[in-house]
Amino acid sequence: MLRSAVEQEIRDLIRKDGRITFAQFMQTCLYSPSGGFYSARDNGINTHFGTSSMTHPVFGALIAQQLKQMWRLLGEPPVFHVIEVGAGDGALAQSIVDACRRLPPRFAQAICYVAADYEPGWPQSPDHALGWAGETGDRISPGRQDPASGIQRVKTEGLQAFRKIVGCILCNELIDNFPVHRFAIKGGRVKEVFVTTEGGKLTEVLDEPSSHRIEERLTSLGLALPEGYRGEVNLGIEDWTSQLSSALDRGFVITIDYGQLATDLYSLQNTQGTLVCFNRHTISSDPYEHIGHQDITCQVDFTSLMRAGERHGLVTVGYTLQSQFLTNLGFSSFLDALQEQDMSAARMELSRIAMMTLVNPDEYGDFKVLAQVKGNGLETDLLGFQDQEP
Ligand SMILES: C[S@@+](CC[C@H](N)C(=O)[O-])C[C@H]1O[C@@H](n2cnc3c(N)ncnc32)[C@H](O)[C@@H]1O
Repeated sequence: MLRSAVEQEIRDLIRKDGRITFAQFMQTCLYSPSGGFYSARDNGINTHFGTSSMTHPVFGALIAQQLKQMWRLLGEPPVFHVIEVGAGDGALAQSIVDACRRLPPRFAQAICYVAADYEPGWPQSPDHALGWAGETGDRISPGRQDPASGIQRVKTEGLQAFRKIVGCILCNELIDNFPVHRFAIKGGRVKEVFVTTEGGKLTEVLDEPSSHRIEERLTSLGLALPEGYRGEVNLGIEDWTSQLSSALDRGFVITIDYGQLATDLYSLQNTQGTLVCFNRHTISSDPYEHIGHQDITCQVDFTSLMRAGERHGLVTVGYTLQSQFLTNLGFSSFLDALQEQDMSAARMELSRIAMMTLVNPDEYGDFKVLAQVKGNGLETDLLGFQDQEP
């Protein structure tokens, strides 16, 4: 049977150690340089799934309104960094920068937008491999931006290369792609799900957890999980929040993703976990098919994200539904303005439908938005988080 290079890599890892954690399996499937889903980006990720960023530019235009308030709260600095991590094909970056150009010129000129991704989905350019010295801050400056797009594109994993950011670090649908450990409750104890082979087939086996942090996380959340319960633990968020804190000198973090507070996530609604896979807009729960050719994702545990933030000096100042966030930022006025635009009735209707997807509770409207801050005097009401009700 012809196997993909990624599947062969996974089998080689298993042969070496007898088994691998699910997190290692997911890491390889998504990010292996020899053809992981995000490394290869065959046919572009939008052939497999959509995101709010790809749905309608009003998503970015509304986030621009929130960024403008953040710039004011920071005292209107002449350079306001916006670092978007996991920027994908750059759709959100472009719609935010375009919208900022229509806002007051002093704000528009201050914006210094960096779209960062592990494996960017945009064409190669000389800026593509731009590193970040991190010492003086001059590697990120308005002069470094591509003049046409107004965006500086950086290939990087996480935020390790960034320092002294004054502004906002932003991500949409990043954390749900961090590799997760899977667990099951067996005999009243937490066991970890490992991936191995049996009779030539990839299969799962339960054993003692590979890290004490898995059980510690579940214990710290005070969960009473019944026998047979299966779920996932995202340990990567600890390192991620530490990176956020080191990169951010003063400012905000906005995280947008699907997920829930821990009590809802690890509830009887989800007794088999929340891991799902996307291949060509088809959803499945089988990560062992289409290896390297499908996305693997998991709902975000926002309680653990907030707590990790608190441990690293990031104070939670807002947590709400995406529908509420966008409504607070003026969604309905953008919807009204659509009527004034010079376009055919059919295009207008298509545009309206796409916009509504962003706030529909059965679609992106149920996503969550988390705001965290670092720096004195910033713990104030943000426009997008008034009347918070997640
Ligand atoms: C689901 S896509 C979201 C793309 C985009 N944010 C959007 O809204 O359309 C996740 C993106 O995060 C990137 N990514 C995942 N882990 C990353 C990391 N540690 N550092 C940088 N980028 C990462 C992937 O390469 C991918 O482009």
